[in-house]
Amino acid sequence: MKEFLSWDQTLFKDSELFELDHIPEYFHHRDAQLQSLMYCIRPALGGGRPVNSLCIGSPGTGKTTAVLKVFEEIEKHSQNVVPVLVNCQVNSTKYAVFSQIFKKIIGYAPPATGASFKKIFSEVAKYIVEHEKVLLVALDDMNYLFYENEVDGILYSLLRAHETHPGARMGVIAILSDTGVPHLLDPKVESVFLPEEIKFPQYTFDEIRDILSNRIRQGFFPDVIGESVLETIAHHTFSLGDLRVGIDLLKRSGLNAEKRASKTIAQEDVESAYEKSRLVHLSYMMRTLKKEEKILLGLIADSPQSNSGDLYKKFHGKTTLGYTRFYELLNKLGSVKLIDADFTGKGARGRSRVVKLRFKPEEVKIRL
Ligand SMILES: Nc1ncnc2c1ncn2[C@@H]1O[C@H](COP(=O)(O)OP(=O)(O)O)[C@@H](O)[C@H]1O
Ligand SMILES: [Mg+2]
Repeated sequence: MKEFLSWDQTLFKDSELFELDHIPEYFHHRDAQLQSLMYCIRPALGGGRPVNSLCIGSPGTGKTTAVLKVFEEIEKHSQNVVPVLVNCQVNSTKYAVFSQIFKKIIGYAPPATGASFKKIFSEVAKYIVEHEKVLLVALDDMNYLFYENEVDGILYSLLRAHETHPGARMGVIAILSDTGVPHLLDPKVESVFLPEEIKFPQYTFDEIRDILSNRIRQGFFPDVIGESVLETIAHHTFSLGDLRVGIDLLKRSGLNAEKRASKTIAQEDVESAYEKSRLVHLSYMMRTLKKEEKILLGLIADSPQSNSGDLYKKFHGKTTLGYTRFYELLNKLGSVKLIDADFTGKGARGRSRVVKLRFKPEEVKIRL
């Protein structure tokens, strides 16, 4: 048996499994969430209005995948429900969101200019009523609709469609990245939305190891990764709490091993891959930050290990925001694992905290 890979050999049996937008066949550890989603959608299968839902959890906890899995089932088994998943990061205005819905229902995109929102909306509603369909819209990464202040208008149009277009049945699955700060809706919208909350907790270490080992079994040839290397990958993934990191690590470590013409992945392949894979989480998180959060993170990047009291002075000087808000933002940056902010409980300033950046300052700064 040859010890090295030849130029036309590969470790990857199916590299598609290591792409982040791949919808995995093996999707365990989310049974409760899938069941809750089905419970909300069930009325629609019988022609009624679905119960609205709110899927909430930190990045890489399987929210988008869970909704897509449920949509696959609906498309297989139901004629009358039309599920549409809208990526709100890309489609962050009312017009863009409804253009996506229009495209799914009517089959082609509405003109980019010239058509009014009202026209597009009314075409969608008319189609739904005439064909006796139920529209189920998943607003993925709905956080982005808050930044553009579009969220209330979009939810309001969807949820009160039956008033303007009698017989139009629509429901919403809101998918929100949990960032530690509450996202508030207009009370008028809240009163018609009333979602069933579906929580996506972070995966445990054992769940992460199980999910990754199944990807390995399906995506790599046998014996490419040993137990201890898998442990390392699971450990890195768990430390950032984002499954995306683990999947990206598998791909990059595999490529690193191939570069060395090795038939197996070694710890060194994982360690050098981690330098890049950890940035997958950083980039994703930083895209969801608001202006004040970016300012605070920028100040932390300027002095990566600072005292919370000093940090507050600088932050206040720059934004005039008060301590409560500062404290909330600090907790948020901690909860999304961009910084460590531990209570020291000691020191001249009383309950001051040492704030540490979890990434290199340059890595953060180029993304601000
Ligand atoms: N339970 C699971 N089993 C297998 N793969 C999963 C599971 N949960 C998440 N993934 C994978 O992890 C990545 C991130 O999941 P995703 O659904 O996009 O997370 P979120 O929408 O919560 O940020 C995707 O590539 C997905 O295939
Ligand atoms: Mg997602």
